Amino acid sequence: MKMLTYFILASSLMACGSKEASQVAELIDSTYVTRGNAIAKISFETISGELKEAIQSGGIEYALKYCNENAYPLTDSLAQTNQVTIKRVSNRNRNLRNKADKMEEFLIQGFGNDLNTEKEITPRLVLKDDSVIFYKAIITQPMCLTCHGKVEKELAFSTDTLIRRLYPRDKAIGYEVNQIRGLWRIGFKKN
Ligand code: HEC
Repeated sequence: MKMLTYFILASSLMACGSKEASQVAELIDSTYVTRGNAIAKISFETISGELKEAIQSGGIEYALKYCNENAYPLTDSLAQTNQVTIKRVSNRNRNLRNKADKMEEFLIQGFGNDLNTEKEITPRLVLKDDSVIFYKAIITQPMCLTCHGKVEKELAFSTDTLIRRLYPRDKAIGYEVNQIRGLWRIGFKKN
């Protein structure tokens, strides 16, 4: 039933209205997309910058614990600065708080199909209650595999052991490069 409260925003839906209304809708959409992209970019740069620094100063397992303790404080503080909500969600989540819901799983599947068929992967806007939610795909890169790759290939046995201690129900290993790891979810209050 909850699905009924979701609508994928598409300016084309406005096509039956006046031309001005559809132009206004397009402008509003593109503003959310521009802001969403900018916030996702700074969030990614902040998290991966902190991770790289932690790896350099203390190694992979130190960085893993660092991420365990700091991923939420980092995104929460960026969220506060930008007056939005910021989350990362995944169908194969590590942290239980990051589990994708049904609609998000559907988006992840769609982005995965686009990636496999070499289509452009463009962000999506979803209207939910009084919020506009921006979703952008997160794609794996070589450095991610030290904590999300295959055990005893990119992922050291000792790292895997620590992951299972910190996240007994982890689903976020076994990835390869250039796969959909999850989504940035940036929530804007509609005004
Ligand atoms: C040093 C280990 C480490 C590296 C390297 C790493 N991650 Fe993670 N990742 C984690 C940990 C730990 C969590 C869980 C954070 C938490 O508890 O909120 C996580 C969570 C995530 C999540 C949130 C969804 C979930 O499963 O909980 C995404 C998305 C993600 N990582 C993507 C990436 C990407 C993309 C890269 C490469 C650019 C990357 N990670 C590199 C350790 C790592």
